Amino acid sequence: MTTGERASTSTSPDNPDFHLCARHTHVHARARSGVRGSIVVMTSYDWNAQTYAENVGFVPELGRTVLDLLDPQGHELVLDLGCGDGVLTAELASRAGRVHGIDASPDMVAAAQDRGLDAQVVHGAKIAEAITEGRLVAGSFDAVFTNAALHWIPAAQDVIAGVHQLLKPGGRFVGEFGGHGNVASLSIALHAARRLHGVEPAAHPWFFPTAAEYEELLRAGGFDVRLIEIHHRPTPLPTGAAGWIETFGDPFLGDLDADTAQAVAATAVELLEVSMRDSHGNWTADYVRLRFAAMRV
Ligand SMILES: C[S@@+](CC[C@H](N)C(=O)[O-])C[C@H]1O[C@@H](n2cnc3c(N)ncnc32)[C@H](O)[C@@H]1O
Repeated sequence: MTTGERASTSTSPDNPDFHLCARHTHVHARARSGVRGSIVVMTSYDWNAQTYAENVGFVPELGRTVLDLLDPQGHELVLDLGCGDGVLTAELASRAGRVHGIDASPDMVAAAQDRGLDAQVVHGAKIAEAITEGRLVAGSFDAVFTNAALHWIPAAQDVIAGVHQLLKPGGRFVGEFGGHGNVASLSIALHAARRLHGVEPAAHPWFFPTAAEYEELLRAGGFDVRLIEIHHRPTPLPTGAAGWIETFGDPFLGDLDADTAQAVAATAVELLEVSMRDSHGNWTADYVRLRFAAMRV
């Protein structure tokens, strides 16, 4: 579903907290208590810039410290890999000379362009293809920056090879993404909820490496690794587990019909309530981040 698109809704008879779209794979949020809401199911590349900002606006906010690690200079050309809706890219653009964003989601790229940013749709594992097609120029970037995107791209070697091609010799590759153990509670709850509703297990969708694993990949890809570390970052969820699942839960729900998807999501939220919601109704997720800074040899 793209920004601005509106589907008609109807209330599920079994669960009045959730409202279904007429289009079968979309279930819409009507958060009432902050404990439950409704879920919008999207494909991985069909991100919705509006719900993204509402549910997980903390992502670019918390990414600002990764920008400090990059320390962009006023004369540099920087690529933002998985730029999303451009909130953080705009901050990057205010510090660097020129910035170009790439993202696999047309909706996110459109949102970034609406901010006046230079961005295009490119799959992070297909940078080499984009170079061949003349959409990106090899050896032209001083740095490649990335925040909260690489765990969506399991073909890590292809990403690293593409970044290596784009960078000038000595160029920096700096970023942060989900590390080993990231959102374990949310993943387990979604896996368990599928089981409880009698549906097939879903394949684990994310790439959450340890620091040692990712360092090995970077070195093999021609990078000198200057910093690589895992840090645990308990992260408040403004719209609770329901909002998080609405934004990121598609890999666990996208193959299900709307009734089953909403039932699985509601069960997952119920399972998570005990450990993730405090007595004031605030939700906190078990985020683990992997942060790195590497140099193209
Ligand atoms: C959590 S958002 C982070 C966006 C932005 N970097 C930020 O900090 O707000 C993850 C982004 O990765 C993008 N993404 C997912 N898979 C991708 C892929 N294969 N190639 C490029 N971008 C991808 C999504 O479309 C989304 O915009």
